[in-house]
Amino acid sequence: MTATHWRKLIVQPLCFLLVFLLMWVPAVAQTKAAPEKPLDKDHAAKMTKGLDIFKKHVKPMLTQKCLRCHGGKEVEAEFDLSDRAELLRGGNKGPAIVAGKAKESLLYKLIRHDSKPFMPHKGAKLPDETIAQVAEWIDLGAPYDEPLVTRKKSLSWTERIVRDDARLFWSFQPLKRVEPPAVKNTNWIKTPIDRFILAKLEGAQFEPNPPADKRQLLRRAYFDLIGLPPSPEESAAFLSDQAPDAYEKLLDRLLASPHHGERWARHWLDLARFAESHGFEHDYDRPSAYHYRDFLIKAFNDDLPYNTFVKWQLAGDEYEPNNPLAQMATGFLAAGVHSTQITKNEVEKHRYDEMDDKLATIGTAMLGLTFGCARCHDHKYDPILQRDYYRMLATFTTTVRTEVQVGFDSEKYDQAKKTFEKAHAPYLAALAKFEADVLPGR
Ligand code: HEC
Ligand code: HEC
Repeated sequence: MTATHWRKLIVQPLCFLLVFLLMWVPAVAQTKAAPEKPLDKDHAAKMTKGLDIFKKHVKPMLTQKCLRCHGGKEVEAEFDLSDRAELLRGGNKGPAIVAGKAKESLLYKLIRHDSKPFMPHKGAKLPDETIAQVAEWIDLGAPYDEPLVTRKKSLSWTERIVRDDARLFWSFQPLKRVEPPAVKNTNWIKTPIDRFILAKLEGAQFEPNPPADKRQLLRRAYFDLIGLPPSPEESAAFLSDQAPDAYEKLLDRLLASPHHGERWARHWLDLARFAESHGFEHDYDRPSAYHYRDFLIKAFNDDLPYNTFVKWQLAGDEYEPNNPLAQMATGFLAAGVHSTQITKNEVEKHRYDEMDDKLATIGTAMLGLTFGCARCHDHKYDPILQRDYYRMLATFTTTVRTEVQVGFDSEKYDQAKKTFEKAHAPYLAALAKFEADVLPGR
C-alpha cells in the first residue's frame, strides 16, 4: 500500500485545468438570474406602483425581518436578498421570486407559511397585511431601488462567506515571537516557557509543585520518549549519576535511541489512519504497508524537517522519484479503509469516498481542520468553501493505490524476514495446533 503512485498531478496541468473548468460550469450557470416573465403593456404604471409599495412597506420589512440572515451579517441558505439580482437568483433552492407571480414565488410561500422552512426563521409570522403587500409587490414585478446595504465594493461569494475576520482567526496566523509574561518568582524560571506557566499560577495565587524526584523524572522521560519503562540497570545508573546535567544526558540518550522514532511514529500512524489490512469484511492484507511505518520511524529518528515530511507524504514519488524513503512516505495517501467488495453501481461513490478520505485526513492530520465537512456544504465554522473542497479533491483524481516493494536494501530485508519467521515458527505452530484442537471444522 505504500508507494502509491501520485502520478500526473504536476506533470499534467492540462488535465487538472480541465477538471477545474468542468467544476466551474454549474457555478457560473447558477449565478445567472432566472429569466423574468415579460410584463404586460402598462409596465411603467405597474413599476411605479410597485416601487411605491416596495419603499413604503416591503423594503422596511426586508431590512428589519430578513436582512440580518440574508445578506447582512449572514447569508443563510446562500440566499441574499439585499439587491434585486440576488433576490431573483435565490438561494440553495433556486429563485426566491418569480417576478409578476406571487403565488409561484418561494419567498411568498415561506412567509405565508404555505411551505417550510417558515420565514422569518424562528420568528413570529408577519402580519397578514404585510404579506398582502409583498404579494402585490411581486405581482407588480418586484421592482427594487437601491440595494439594502451599501457595500464599499461588491463582494464575491467567497469573500462574503470567508470574511476577513474569519481569516484573522488565531490558528491561521503565521508564527510569531511573543514576549513571555513577567513573573514575580524569577528563581523558579528555567526556560522562557516556564514563564507562561508561572504567570497563570501566580494569577490564581497558586504555588508551583516541588520538583519531581529523580525516580519519577526517569520514568516520565522513558515513557514519553521511548514508551517503555527503564530497566533496573538503567535506573540504577541514572539514580547514582550525581552530575548536574545527568537529566539532560538521559534525555539526549533517549532521543538518540531508535525506539524514540518507534514511540512517536505511533502517534502519526494514528493520525494517518494506518493499518496493515484493507478493513471491511474481507480485510485483505496489505503486504507492503510496513514501508510507510518504517518511513515514519526513520523520519522521527533522523529529524526529517516538517516541510519535507509533509511534501513526501503527499507526493514523494513526484518530488523525489529515485528516493525510496520519499516513495515510502506516500503510504500516507494509501492508508485508510478500502472496500474490495463493490457493486458496479457503487464504483463512482466509492471512488469519491476514497478521495474524501485522503483530503479529510490531510485536513485533520496536517492542518487541524475538518475539510471533510465541506463535502456537502460550505463549512459551518471554518473558512472552507464547498467549491474549494472539490477543487482540492480534484488533486487526487489520478492517485492510484498499488502494492509496491520498494527497492530498499532488499537483501537485508529478506535476511531479516527469514530470521523473524524462524524465530516465530514455534508460535505459528502452536497457533495452528490451538486452532485444530479448539476450533475443529474451521
Ligand atoms: C434568523 C435568521 C433568518 C431570518 C431572520 C430569516 N431567515 Fe430566511 N432562512 C434562514 C435559514 C436558516 C434558511 C434555511 C432553512 C432551511 O433550509 O431549513 C432560510 C431560508 C430562506 C429561504 C429559502 C432559500 C433557499 O433557496 O433555500 C427564503 C426564500 C427565505 N429564507 C426568506 C426569508 C425572508 C423573506 C425573511 C424575512 C421575512 C427571512 N428569510 C428571514 C434564516 C433566516
Ligand atoms: C455527507 C454530507 C455532509 C457532511 C460530510 C457534513 N454535513 Fe453538515 N449537513 C449536511 C446536510 C444535508 C445538512 C442539512 C440538514 C438539514 O436539512 O437540516 C447539514 C447541516 C449542517 C448544520 C446545520 C446547518 C443549519 O443552518 O442549521 C451544521 C451546523 C453542520 N451541517 C455542520 C457540519 C459539520 C461541522 C460537518 C463536518 C464535521 C458536517 N456538517 C459535515 C450534510 C453534511
